[in-house]
Amino acid sequence: MSVCLKTRYADAFLPEETLESLRPEIMSASATLLDGSGKGCSFRGWVNLPVQYDKEEFSRISAAAEKIRRSCDVFVVIGIGGSYLGARAAIEFLYGQQHNAVRKDGPEIYFAGNNIDASALSDLLAVCEGRDICVNVISKSGKTTEPAIAFRVFRDYLKARYGKEGMKDRVFVTTDARKGKLKELAELEGYQTFVVPDDVGGRYSVLTAVGLLPIAVSGADIAEMMRGAAEMRDLLLRTEFKDNPALKYAAYRNAFYRSEKKTEILVTYESSMVMFAEWWKQLYGESEGKENKGLFPASVTFSTDLHSLGQYIQQGERDLFETVLIPREANSVLRVPVDPDDIDGLSFLEGKTLHEINMTAFTATAMAHNDGDVPNLVIEFDRRDAAHFGMLAYFFEFACGVSAYTLGVNPFDQPGVEDYKNNMYALLGKPGEEHEARRAVLEKRLSGVL
Ligand code: PA5
Repeated sequence: MSVCLKTRYADAFLPEETLESLRPEIMSASATLLDGSGKGCSFRGWVNLPVQYDKEEFSRISAAAEKIRRSCDVFVVIGIGGSYLGARAAIEFLYGQQHNAVRKDGPEIYFAGNNIDASALSDLLAVCEGRDICVNVISKSGKTTEPAIAFRVFRDYLKARYGKEGMKDRVFVTTDARKGKLKELAELEGYQTFVVPDDVGGRYSVLTAVGLLPIAVSGADIAEMMRGAAEMRDLLLRTEFKDNPALKYAAYRNAFYRSEKKTEILVTYESSMVMFAEWWKQLYGESEGKENKGLFPASVTFSTDLHSLGQYIQQGERDLFETVLIPREANSVLRVPVDPDDIDGLSFLEGKTLHEINMTAFTATAMAHNDGDVPNLVIEFDRRDAAHFGMLAYFFEFACGVSAYTLGVNPFDQPGVEDYKNNMYALLGKPGEEHEARRAVLEKRLSGVL
């Protein structure tokens, strides 16, 4: 089992001494992350999570997942940002985008509350009609507007379907251990609760109840996922710079950033990793994009996007580099069928697996993009399974912490996200002096006075 960083399509773009010269900064950032002396250090709980997680909570998660799997046809996960992306990334990583059709032995799983889209929510209610439902609402702060609206809609719906008593067994709340509106509501209405640890922020929380409950409901082996994460943690904490894939990844990212490559594109070659890329974008975007700094994290899925964004990547602005995330083995073996007539002219591919062809597409693309001045880092892993999801999640989180400290920013806050929220509260008329004052200013701006 392994994850490794390959740099043959990247090294030609950096002077040979660059990585070595960055080494002291990377080592210092890594030490800062590990000794807890950096900005936001009270949110480093995820660093030791794979070996120090709450075993009792873990058993409660497994038991609740079994209960949910037995008692519903549709499982709705309500949350936004770090409170849903990790779970969705893991479920699609393991079972693909068609997971609801492919997994035969558990409920269908849907995600809500990550937008304010009336059609999406109405469609989901229609999916629930006539079928048994369970809901897991996830919010660390317990006050985020989007999931709160979706939860209110679902509470109303569940009450009409099951009654106030009957719905108690169908609602599972993941939130702060002590505080917040959601915690209050859960206690008042008698829902089972799970904890988002105080020292773990949303985007680093996939290996807590935030991610693990929905992932366990999908039937995935969450113990194996933790084992993979623990194995990666062990590797990253004991390996020196030259052989340490996360430290090297952080170093390359910072080196490219300093050489005016300001956009990093995470490239996947399988649609089952589209949501993994979304999780990665949030992790790096919220952790590094502040103080007017940070690589812009983008993502593409090839071959699909070779026929849309491929043109731009090959010949547009030259401020890009790519990080290709690639499994050595495909989860399915499919071969190009034999056709003696060969009218489509495809017989030169007969008998080849689609994975082999996909890997050739990768080599061809990496070489073409190199010719177009786009470096490619490659992160290889064995296959899409629970252990490798755990490994990759930990790998990217650790590299992100080190990379952000190297950049000189706090990897664990997201002050910019508050700006839109505060404007929205004000414009929607949320009670409170601060909201009212802001509302007055915004309304003046809207009417052209300011
Ligand atoms: O990474 C983060 O902390 C954020 O993306 C949060 O997860 C997101 O804003 C949702 O917050 P909450 O869980 O408080 O509803």
